[in-house]
Amino acid sequence: MIVHHDEPLPGQGAVSLLILGAGWTSTFLLPLLQREGINHAATTTTGRDGTIPFIFDPESEDTSPFTALPPAKTILITFPLKGTGQSSRLVSGYAATHPDIAQDVRYIQFGVTSIWKAEDWQDENSPYDTSNARAIAEDELMRVAPAASVLSLAGLYGGARQPRNWVHRVITSKEALRAKGALHVIHGEDVARAVVALHRNFTPKKRWLMCDMHVYDWWDLTEDWARQTLGAEEGSVSAEEVEKQKDLLAWVGELMMEENIRALPRDMKLVGRRLDGRGFWQHMGIWPTQGRIR
Ligand SMILES: NC(=O)c1ccc[n+]([C@@H]2O[C@H](COP(=O)([O-])OP(=O)(O)OC[C@H]3O[C@@H](n4cnc5c(N)ncnc54)[C@H](OP(=O)(O)O)[C@@H]3O)[C@@H](O)[C@H]2O)c1
Repeated sequence: MIVHHDEPLPGQGAVSLLILGAGWTSTFLLPLLQREGINHAATTTTGRDGTIPFIFDPESEDTSPFTALPPAKTILITFPLKGTGQSSRLVSGYAATHPDIAQDVRYIQFGVTSIWKAEDWQDENSPYDTSNARAIAEDELMRVAPAASVLSLAGLYGGARQPRNWVHRVITSKEALRAKGALHVIHGEDVARAVVALHRNFTPKKRWLMCDMHVYDWWDLTEDWARQTLGAEEGSVSAEEVEKQKDLLAWVGELMMEENIRALPRDMKLVGRRLDGRGFWQHMGIWPTQGRIR
């Protein structure tokens, strides 16, 4: 039996989309599912906020935790699966406890774009690191599940999670800034739209590279954010932060001289690995709504 989206499933409490791990991305996905009228359920490890308590133990063959899960057409796994065996255990655990629908379940797994390592452009069809633990688990999921697809996500941002707040963690020294090339991101709202698009137009055995179709230059962003902070209303930024931002601004200027960069952003060829994220959006006939981070 092929299950079409939003058709009812057999079984009590059946849902169209089941989120295994309603974490940060679900702050965007749950409201979208509500607005779109997509029947859904979600888990957390604790069962907070009315979610189903569910913990996947990747080492255990015990299928009893899966009995708490409703029948679902699409299952989104947000937490990482790694290496050999974990994906098989998850799929077989759900199948053993939901035999009536097991053959029709489609899985979506969130992944990371760092599995693509080439120092140039890469898209969803580019070679990736097949020895990467997450890539191994994703490949296994796409092999063992009736249908599975992976969304490899660039840096997640949106709401309170803003890339400019990553600067002090990422740029700890002038040398750290020198080493920084491109930044790729995707907004939580576009991740949510992508999940819904994939749920409605499923692409079995396909790993997609998800970004907002921008290549950001860390030097350009750092300089822009430093100027914004230094230009903020007097008293709104601490003296310590002002000093840090002045250092960042000076480092960018010095590096531009040392590396003979005439202007920002740097030429794309100089920022290293670049992601071409057009494929998913083109295939689905939708485009990112968020971009041009500030
Ligand atoms: N952060 C980034 O910039 C970034 C970039 C690219 C890709 N990613 C990937 O995107 C995904 C993260 O999505 P997100 O931000 O929505 O995740 P998140 O906020 O970390 O939430 C993960 C969810 O999974 C649940 N969970 C964790 N381990 C579990 C287990 N063993 N069994 C059952 N549930 C479990 C957590 O439960 P509790 O709520 O109870 O903790 C939580 O609800 C990850 O795969 C991450 O590697 C992240």
